[in-house]
Amino acid sequence: MFEKIERVPGDAILGLIEAFKKDTNPQKVDLGVGVYKDAQGNTPVMRAVKEAEALLLKNETTKTYIGSHGSPAYGEVILPLVLGEDSPVLEAKRASATQSPGGTGALRLAADFIANQLPGKAIWVSDPTWPNHLGIFPAAGLTLNKYPYVDAENRLDFDGMLAALKEIPEGDVVLLHACCHNPTGFDLSREQWQQVLDVVKARNLLPLIDFAYQGFGEGLDEDAYGVRLMAENLNEVIITSSCSKNFGIYCERTGCLIMVAKDNEQMENVRSQIAIVARENYSNPPAHGGAIVSEILQSAELAALWREELTEMRDRINTLRRDFVEALKPYGLDQKYACVADQRGMFSYTGLTPEQVDRLRDEFGIYMVRSGRANVAGFSHENLPYLTQAIAAVN
Ligand code: LMR
Repeated sequence: MFEKIERVPGDAILGLIEAFKKDTNPQKVDLGVGVYKDAQGNTPVMRAVKEAEALLLKNETTKTYIGSHGSPAYGEVILPLVLGEDSPVLEAKRASATQSPGGTGALRLAADFIANQLPGKAIWVSDPTWPNHLGIFPAAGLTLNKYPYVDAENRLDFDGMLAALKEIPEGDVVLLHACCHNPTGFDLSREQWQQVLDVVKARNLLPLIDFAYQGFGEGLDEDAYGVRLMAENLNEVIITSSCSKNFGIYCERTGCLIMVAKDNEQMENVRSQIAIVARENYSNPPAHGGAIVSEILQSAELAALWREELTEMRDRINTLRRDFVEALKPYGLDQKYACVADQRGMFSYTGLTPEQVDRLRDEFGIYMVRSGRANVAGFSHENLPYLTQAIAAVN
């Protein structure tokens, strides 16, 4: 039976991890998969996480199942982190949290919920978007369409986006990136979020907001601006959040599906359906990552340490963005790549073409996604001279 099965190429982003490992060039630079790196190129365990894990090891009394919605303590800390401490949405008890295996798990729960409970609703994603979005929603049986996001000059095409949103059939789902847009790094301003909200309201669209990089753009609360605006002004919003990046617990698979409904009654109905979807996919989420996050956020001391470490990471990335553009000045390329300093989050859509990306890999051992997406966290003050010289060589 298996003789007819064809081999397919592996995931373009995850494949870069292996390709980079195999490269023997001592100057190689990894700008591929979206993980944070420090000045030495390592992805360390955060100190707050280590301390929380020590406490967990000492105090843990059982490894029993935690239920399809995950740990209640985790839900209790994630909701205010995402929606705000004094959120009227929380006050009205109209938001439900379901711990999920990473942000990807939350997206798949959302996709299955839409497919099962809102049949016939298509999903609209930005063009470009995180490539895995293109797989997850069709895998759940949804029709996926795109709205424009970047123009030919590699700038945010907000007019194009808004015009397309106005044409989306009423009731369809529109996927928005809360902050640190993956892959482009182009984020919406507060005024632009307001305009999107107006269209979403007018067309009765259902926003699904992917919030994988909270704290990596401008700050924990600043990055949540669009999410909170939507949740406070709409009856129904779906949010998929992730602790992979901001807690640096990538391999612990720790995310959350937040369903915002009109009132508590409707929220509980929706919540009961989410439990079924989770049960059918994987039954219960893994516990450890959620336990780390609740341990940290329930302790004033650990939470302060975590915020400090997160600020350090964000500031480092934003400094490197500016220094990268500065380092391109001697080559007369600073204007061409000026967008890198303005974009936010882990990624930059650099404008490098697939051919240039191939040359950077083959001739210089510099790895990034062929779309020209660079993980800015892979820049360092040590590799900037090499990197900018290589970019100049392929221009
Ligand atoms: C990325 O976009 O590089 C990250 O979100 C990791 C992944 O799973 O693709």
